[in-house]
Amino acid sequence: MMTQTDIYHWSEVDKSPLAEDFVNYLDMVTALKGTQERKHESYQVMGAKEGGSYLDLGCGTGDDAIELAKIAGPSGRVVGVDNSAVMISEAQQKAQKAGVDVEFYQGSGEALEFADNSFDACRADRVFQHLPDRKVVLAEMIRVTRSGGRVLINDPDYGGRMVDGYNRELTDKILTFMNNRVRNPWAGRQNYRLLKEAGLLEVASSPRLSASTNFERAKRLGRFPDAARIMQEQGVLTEEEANTWIADMERSAEAGYFFCVVASFMVCGVKP
Ligand SMILES: C[S@@+](CC[C@H](N)C(=O)[O-])C[C@H]1O[C@@H](n2cnc3c(N)ncnc32)[C@H](O)[C@@H]1O
Repeated sequence: MMTQTDIYHWSEVDKSPLAEDFVNYLDMVTALKGTQERKHESYQVMGAKEGGSYLDLGCGTGDDAIELAKIAGPSGRVVGVDNSAVMISEAQQKAQKAGVDVEFYQGSGEALEFADNSFDACRADRVFQHLPDRKVVLAEMIRVTRSGGRVLINDPDYGGRMVDGYNRELTDKILTFMNNRVRNPWAGRQNYRLLKEAGLLEVASSPRLSASTNFERAKRLGRFPDAARIMQEQGVLTEEEANTWIADMERSAEAGYFFCVVASFMVCGVKP
């Protein structure tokens, strides 16, 4: 079972002995209705159409590249790149099963192996939150996009994560701890500035709030309530505080009141 610690090591999935759990995690998140809606919105915003050429950077298990390939059709070209061999292998199997023509390569967003101006549009979904150097990767995405083409990135902003806990002080402390475990917890709100600073035109951000009332799913996705236990292990919460918070969450779920919200920001700009 993936733990809170493992789930944040997305920049080096293959180094984890639990790499398969990352695959399962993505499949679980991708299957959610809200995720699907957001992904389809992104295909529209990037202007995907029949005959187009598109790059999905940090493609994970390939679902988005496969969807884009269905839109681009046989006259188009869709490429998925991910630095994880486990992800690329999974993506290739999915594309074969779906009977869709997608090129998948293992590669790094920091040094894309494509010529300048190769694609009509590039996207990176929930990748920038994990990158050590976002400017380098964005510059690469812009380089391989043709002039007039679109570059789109979408990320959550963990500063915009809200949970209705009974004890506000304790809930704030736990959320702050969880947020700081992500490499770029403010990626969502920072994406707008990042694209503007990179010189893209017509930069627009589309924010969205996703609410979850399903405590069991929140637990399966590895974030509730094990954060409290990790904090206890690290000595930043007492055993009593951790027990109180977990009991509060369970009480709230049993009563049907569990309520958690995450903000995400999809930002798109045009290459001059
Ligand atoms: C949270 S997953 C998102 C996957 C997919 N975009 C989605 O929305 O389902 C982040 C993905 O980015 C990949 N990744 C992380 N850092 C990368 C880098 N520097 N270059 C290429 N891929 C990277 C990871 O291996 C992982 O598959």
